[in-house]
Amino acid sequence: MISACIFDLDGVIVDTAKFHFIAWRELAQKLGFNFTEKDNEKLKGVSRMRSLDILLEVGGLNFDKQKKLELATEKNDRYVELIKTLTPADILPGVLDFLTDLKTKNYKIALGSASKNAMTILQNINLVDFFDAIIDGTKISKAKPDPEVFLLGATEINKKPEECIVFEDAQAGIEAAKSAKMYAIGIGKTENLKGADIILNDFLAQNIDNLTKKLTR
Ligand code: BG6
Ligand code: MG
Repeated sequence: MISACIFDLDGVIVDTAKFHFIAWRELAQKLGFNFTEKDNEKLKGVSRMRSLDILLEVGGLNFDKQKKLELATEKNDRYVELIKTLTPADILPGVLDFLTDLKTKNYKIALGSASKNAMTILQNINLVDFFDAIIDGTKISKAKPDPEVFLLGATEINKKPEECIVFEDAQAGIEAAKSAKMYAIGIGKTENLKGADIILNDFLAQNIDNLTKKLTR
């Protein structure tokens, strides 16, 4: 029986991709090349260091490990400045109602995010208290599509994988959920969510009873 939901953060609960984009683009410009919104798509769900590698590939550049750490830190400092502007008004449409519905029905709720800034973001949008477990980039060693983040989430809320639905906006996240043997609901465009059990545009007018019916029939 489905009795828990595990949420990705960036792109599912709040749209932080625009801030990642600003910070990465500024870094690219400093390094002397252009980084487009289309390039930014490739960074969704991907870890910070892997994102930097993808960005440097776009610019045809390579640096040693030390320099890469400096660049990633510089990008993150800028990103941290940008996410300070987040407030509860930035929670994506329908998410708050959906979480409230889950709480009312006694579902367990976990976060499964690659971001090391997840806690700051949840605090800024005032959602920390909804979560029974928060697994973020500071707690995992393997990035999505590895299932580690979701399996750890399920363990912390005492659920088996088959009792969990994962909500994800990135291909790597859908793959992570499926290899964890969980249900995967994609949020966004079909082409970025191959293998998802259901795909939704957003959480507006959704409720857990309808979704579990569709998943288990
Ligand atoms: C993911 C984002 O949630 O977190 C990626 O989709 C990001 O774009 C990754 O690179 C790591 O985030 P952070 O905040 O630790 O740099
Ligand atoms: Mg995401």
